[in-house]
Amino acid sequence: MKGFFITLEGGEGAGKSTLARHLHSVLTGRGHQVLLTREPGGTPTAERIRDILVQRSEENLSAQTETLLLYAARDVHVRNVIKPALAAGFVVICDRFADSTLCYQGYAQGLDLNWIQNLHTQILGDFSPDLTFLLDLPVNEGLARSLKQKQNTNDAREGKEDRFESKDISFHEKLRQGFLTLAQQNQHRFVILNAQDKSEDVAHKALAELKARGIFNAV
Ligand code: TMP
Repeated sequence: MKGFFITLEGGEGAGKSTLARHLHSVLTGRGHQVLLTREPGGTPTAERIRDILVQRSEENLSAQTETLLLYAARDVHVRNVIKPALAAGFVVICDRFADSTLCYQGYAQGLDLNWIQNLHTQILGDFSPDLTFLLDLPVNEGLARSLKQKQNTNDAREGKEDRFESKDISFHEKLRQGFLTLAQQNQHRFVILNAQDKSEDVAHKALAELKARGIFNAV
Protein backbone atom coordinates (compact mmCIF):
# COMPACT_ATOMS: atom_id res chain seq x y z
CA MET A 1 0.00 0.00 0.00
CA LYS A 2 1.28 3.42 -0.94
CA GLY A 3 0.71 6.43 1.28
CA PHE A 4 -0.39 9.92 0.35
CA PHE A 5 1.77 13.05 0.38
CA ILE A 6 0.09 16.33 1.36
CA THR A 7 1.95 19.64 1.55
CA LEU A 8 0.83 22.93 3.08
CA GLU A 9 2.09 26.14 1.52
CA GLY A 10 1.65 29.89 1.87
CA GLY A 11 3.30 33.07 3.08
CA GLU A 12 4.08 34.02 6.67
CA GLY A 13 1.31 33.76 9.27
CA ALA A 14 -1.12 31.91 7.02
CA GLY A 15 -2.00 29.26 9.61
CA LYS A 16 -0.27 26.24 8.03
CA SER A 17 0.88 24.78 11.32
CA THR A 18 -2.60 25.04 12.83
CA LEU A 19 -4.11 23.33 9.78
CA ALA A 20 -1.40 20.65 9.88
CA ARG A 21 -2.17 19.82 13.51
CA HIS A 22 -5.91 19.77 12.81
CA LEU A 23 -5.60 17.43 9.81
CA HIS A 24 -3.25 15.21 11.79
CA SER A 25 -5.70 14.89 14.66
CA VAL A 26 -8.79 14.26 12.49
CA LEU A 27 -7.12 11.76 10.15
CA THR A 28 -5.50 9.91 13.05
CA GLY A 29 -8.91 9.77 14.71
CA ARG A 30 -10.28 8.13 11.55
CA GLY A 31 -7.70 5.38 11.81
CA HIS A 32 -5.13 6.63 9.29
CA GLN A 33 -1.44 6.41 10.07
CA VAL A 34 -0.31 10.02 9.77
CA LEU A 35 3.14 11.58 9.88
CA LEU A 36 3.35 15.32 10.52
CA THR A 37 6.61 16.93 9.46
CA ARG A 38 8.00 20.25 8.21
CA GLU A 39 10.57 21.94 5.99
CA PRO A 40 13.18 23.10 6.30
CA GLY A 41 13.65 20.40 8.92
CA GLY A 42 12.06 17.08 9.79
CA THR A 43 15.29 15.24 10.72
CA PRO A 44 18.06 16.20 13.19
CA THR A 45 20.45 17.17 10.37
CA ALA A 46 17.80 19.07 8.42
CA GLU A 47 16.75 20.93 11.60
CA ARG A 48 20.35 22.11 12.01
CA ILE A 49 20.26 23.42 8.44
CA ARG A 50 16.92 25.10 9.28
CA ASP A 51 18.58 27.12 12.03
CA ILE A 52 21.10 28.52 9.53
CA LEU A 53 18.32 29.46 7.12
CA VAL A 54 15.69 31.01 9.35
CA GLN A 55 17.71 32.85 12.00
CA ARG A 56 19.08 36.30 11.31
CA SER A 57 22.82 36.59 10.91
CA GLU A 58 25.36 39.27 10.11
CA GLU A 59 26.40 37.32 7.05
CA ASN A 60 24.43 37.65 3.82
CA LEU A 61 23.22 34.37 2.27
CA SER A 62 22.44 34.56 -1.44
CA ALA A 63 19.22 32.99 -2.73
CA GLN A 64 21.42 30.40 -4.48
CA THR A 65 23.13 29.44 -1.21
CA GLU A 66 19.74 29.24 0.50
CA THR A 67 18.50 26.91 -2.23
CA LEU A 68 21.53 24.62 -1.96
CA LEU A 69 21.05 24.42 1.81
CA LEU A 70 17.32 23.82 1.39
CA TYR A 71 17.93 20.97 -1.06
CA ALA A 72 20.57 19.41 1.18
CA ALA A 73 18.01 19.41 4.00
CA ARG A 74 15.23 18.23 1.67
CA ASP A 75 17.31 15.33 0.36
CA VAL A 76 17.99 14.10 3.91
CA HIS A 77 14.34 14.54 4.86
CA VAL A 78 12.87 12.83 1.79
CA ARG A 79 15.25 9.85 1.90
CA ASN A 80 15.12 9.24 5.64
CA VAL A 81 11.61 10.24 6.61
CA ILE A 82 9.12 11.03 3.85
CA LYS A 83 9.72 8.18 1.38
CA PRO A 84 9.94 5.45 4.04
CA ALA A 85 6.69 6.70 5.61
CA LEU A 86 4.91 6.75 2.22
CA ALA A 87 6.19 3.24 1.48
CA ALA A 88 4.74 2.10 4.81
CA GLY A 89 1.33 3.53 3.80
CA PHE A 90 1.34 6.68 5.94
CA VAL A 91 -0.39 9.91 5.08
CA VAL A 92 2.49 12.41 5.23
CA ILE A 93 1.55 16.02 5.99
CA CYS A 94 4.48 18.35 5.37
CA ASP A 95 4.41 22.01 6.44
CA ARG A 96 6.14 23.54 3.36
CA PHE A 97 8.04 21.72 0.60
CA ALA A 98 9.56 22.46 -2.83
CA ASP A 99 6.93 25.06 -3.84
CA SER A 100 8.28 27.24 -1.02
CA THR A 101 11.73 27.23 -2.66
CA LEU A 102 10.26 28.26 -6.03
CA CYS A 103 8.44 31.13 -4.28
CA TYR A 104 10.84 32.33 -1.55
CA GLN A 105 14.07 31.89 -3.49
CA GLY A 106 12.64 32.11 -7.05
CA TYR A 107 9.66 34.44 -7.41
CA ALA A 108 10.47 36.61 -4.37
CA GLN A 109 14.26 36.89 -4.77
CA GLY A 110 14.63 36.48 -8.52
CA LEU A 111 16.58 33.22 -8.62
CA ASP A 112 16.03 31.48 -11.96
CA LEU A 113 13.06 29.11 -11.67
CA ASN A 114 14.53 26.64 -14.17
CA TRP A 115 17.75 26.45 -12.15
CA ILE A 116 15.72 25.54 -9.06
CA GLN A 117 13.63 23.02 -10.98
CA ASN A 118 16.72 21.38 -12.49
CA LEU A 119 18.27 21.06 -9.04
CA HIS A 120 15.06 19.45 -7.82
CA THR A 121 15.12 16.96 -10.69
CA GLN A 122 18.76 16.09 -10.11
CA ILE A 123 18.21 15.45 -6.42
CA LEU A 124 14.64 14.14 -6.21
CA GLY A 125 13.66 13.27 -9.80
CA ASP A 126 9.93 13.84 -10.31
CA PHE A 127 9.07 13.34 -6.64
CA SER A 128 6.21 15.72 -5.89
CA PRO A 129 3.26 16.07 -3.48
CA ASP A 130 -0.02 14.32 -4.30
CA LEU A 131 -1.96 17.32 -3.00
CA THR A 132 -0.97 20.86 -1.95
CA PHE A 133 -3.12 23.19 0.12
CA LEU A 134 -2.21 26.84 -0.47
CA LEU A 135 -3.31 29.08 2.41
CA ASP A 136 -3.70 32.49 0.84
CA LEU A 137 -4.19 35.82 2.62
CA PRO A 138 -3.24 39.49 2.21
CA VAL A 139 0.42 40.12 3.02
CA ASN A 140 -0.10 42.71 5.79
CA GLU A 141 -2.45 40.44 7.66
CA GLY A 142 -0.10 37.44 7.45
CA LEU A 143 2.94 39.41 8.60
CA ALA A 144 1.04 40.93 11.54
CA ARG A 145 -0.12 37.48 12.64
CA SER A 146 3.34 35.98 12.27
CA LEU A 147 5.15 38.71 14.22
CA LYS A 148 2.55 38.48 16.99
CA GLN A 149 3.03 34.69 17.23
CA LYS A 150 6.78 35.16 17.49
CA GLN A 151 6.49 37.81 20.21
CA ASN A 152 4.12 35.62 22.23
CA THR A 153 5.96 32.33 21.85
CA ASN A 154 7.64 30.65 24.82
CA ASP A 155 9.85 28.73 22.40
CA ALA A 156 13.16 30.63 22.34
CA ARG A 157 14.18 29.01 19.07
CA GLU A 158 10.94 29.92 17.29
CA GLY A 159 11.23 33.51 18.57
CA LYS A 160 14.49 33.93 16.63
CA GLU A 161 13.09 32.57 13.33
CA ASP A 162 12.33 35.86 11.62
CA ARG A 163 14.92 36.22 8.85
CA PHE A 164 12.27 35.98 6.11
CA GLU A 165 9.51 37.92 7.92
CA SER A 166 11.92 40.84 8.23
CA LYS A 167 12.17 41.26 4.43
CA ASP A 168 10.26 44.17 2.89
CA ILE A 169 6.63 44.20 1.75
CA SER A 170 7.49 43.86 -1.95
CA PHE A 171 9.26 40.55 -1.16
CA HIS A 172 6.09 39.25 0.49
CA GLU A 173 3.85 40.51 -2.34
CA LYS A 174 6.01 38.70 -4.93
CA LEU A 175 5.87 35.64 -2.73
CA ARG A 176 2.09 35.67 -2.62
CA GLN A 177 1.81 36.14 -6.39
CA GLY A 178 4.35 33.33 -6.89
CA PHE A 179 2.25 30.88 -4.90
CA LEU A 180 -0.90 31.91 -6.78
CA THR A 181 0.92 31.44 -10.11
CA LEU A 182 2.10 27.95 -9.13
CA ALA A 183 -1.46 27.06 -8.04
CA GLN A 184 -2.74 28.25 -11.40
CA GLN A 185 -0.12 26.23 -13.29
CA ASN A 186 -0.62 23.04 -11.25
CA GLN A 187 -4.36 22.90 -10.75
CA HIS A 188 -4.37 19.10 -10.58
CA ARG A 189 -2.59 19.15 -7.22
CA PHE A 190 -3.22 22.64 -5.73
CA VAL A 191 -6.23 23.65 -3.68
CA ILE A 192 -6.39 27.31 -2.59
CA LEU A 193 -7.88 27.96 0.85
CA ASN A 194 -8.83 31.44 2.08
CA ALA A 195 -6.67 31.84 5.19
CA GLN A 196 -8.74 34.83 6.35
CA ASP A 197 -11.49 32.36 7.27
CA LYS A 198 -11.63 31.01 10.83
CA SER A 199 -9.16 28.17 11.36
CA GLU A 200 -11.98 25.63 11.91
CA ASP A 201 -13.55 26.64 8.59
CA VAL A 202 -10.21 26.33 6.78
CA ALA A 203 -9.74 22.84 8.25
CA HIS A 204 -13.32 21.87 7.37
CA LYS A 205 -12.77 22.91 3.74
CA ALA A 206 -9.49 21.01 3.55
CA LEU A 207 -11.14 17.84 4.90
CA ALA A 208 -14.10 18.26 2.54
CA GLU A 209 -11.62 18.53 -0.33
CA LEU A 210 -9.95 15.27 0.71
CA LYS A 211 -13.34 13.61 0.83
CA ALA A 212 -14.44 15.03 -2.53
CA ARG A 213 -11.30 13.60 -4.10
CA GLY A 214 -12.21 10.21 -2.69
CA ILE A 215 -9.01 10.14 -0.71
CA PHE A 216 -10.48 9.72 2.75
CA ASN A 217 -13.79 9.28 4.38
CA ALA A 218 -12.78 12.24 6.42
CA VAL A 219 -15.86 14.32 7.17
P1 TMP B 1 7.93 28.40 8.54
O1 TMP B 1 8.06 29.73 9.25
O2 TMP B 1 6.70 28.26 7.75
O3 TMP B 1 8.18 27.24 9.45
O4 TMP B 1 9.12 28.34 7.45
C1 TMP B 1 10.40 28.70 7.76
C2 TMP B 1 10.94 29.77 6.86
O5 TMP B 1 11.74 29.18 5.83
C3 TMP B 1 9.88 30.62 6.18
O6 TMP B 1 10.19 31.99 6.44
C4 TMP B 1 10.05 30.31 4.74
C5 TMP B 1 11.46 29.79 4.59
N1 TMP B 1 11.61 28.80 3.50
C6 TMP B 1 12.24 29.18 2.33
O7 TMP B 1 12.66 30.32 2.21
N2 TMP B 1 12.35 28.26 1.33
C7 TMP B 1 11.91 26.98 1.44
O8 TMP B 1 12.04 26.17 0.50
C8 TMP B 1 11.27 26.59 2.67
C9 TMP B 1 10.78 25.18 2.82
C10 TMP B 1 11.14 27.54 3.67
